[in-house]
Amino acid sequence: MQITEVKNYDEMSKKASEIIMKRIQDLPKPVLGLATGSTPEGMYKELVQVYVDGKISFSNTTTYNLDEYIGLPREDKNSYRFYMNDRLFSHVDISKEQTNVPNGMAKDLKEECNDYEESIKKSGGIDVQVLGIGVNGHIGFNEPGTSFQTATHVVNLAPSTIQANARFFESEKDVPKQAITMGIQSIMKSKEILLLISGAKKADAVYQLLHGEVSEVFPASILQQHPNVHLIADEAALSKVKENGMRSLR
Ligand code: GLP
Repeated sequence: MQITEVKNYDEMSKKASEIIMKRIQDLPKPVLGLATGSTPEGMYKELVQVYVDGKISFSNTTTYNLDEYIGLPREDKNSYRFYMNDRLFSHVDISKEQTNVPNGMAKDLKEECNDYEESIKKSGGIDVQVLGIGVNGHIGFNEPGTSFQTATHVVNLAPSTIQANARFFESEKDVPKQAITMGIQSIMKSKEILLLISGAKKADAVYQLLHGEVSEVFPASILQQHPNVHLIADEAALSKVKENGMRSLR
């Protein structure tokens, strides 16, 4: 795993956007895997800016988002489809047909999951997958205990995830209890993974990610086995790793 330490959230966002910009410039038909949450927001802002500055075009880009809540219509401001339109898609030259977010309102959710997986395959696979991490080590919405063999599937959200995401909703009881997520296997198939982690509240997760054993108890640990992961983390997120590194040097 390649690790880049940056000072803070803004630097992480800038660095990440530069990498994505380069892939968009270099690949004839880039396929991006995208994430939601607070972590990539700054990166999307930067990407909109480089687009406005005329440095990139998204016209050949296809995107697949990691996950979506079940039961929220696309117009709901808490749906990940709304988030993506609002933070990126509506501000750049990408046609909505090239953007894919699982449909959490699908009548047949299983079929939706299979179709999503099939569509990723047809696109040629994800060139670069942007990832954040949950405090419990979830990636996408693959909660602790999820088999490493999963493709896109329906999940029950862990209580800690519902709690962590309640900040976006009026109250905790409004947070959906289920979601569709790309599976660990779908994520691991990406050719490159750009993992973004910021803030002291993720320090334990980063420590476990880098020093813990590879186990389904901590889903992100599987990334240790991916051949092309680039972690961009800020000082606060790396604080526990560095503290323990220093202790072992003493
Ligand atoms: C959410 C998303 C994840 C995201 C994680 C961390 O539940 N499903 O894809 O990485 O939580 O979110 P944040 O970046 O807001 O800390």
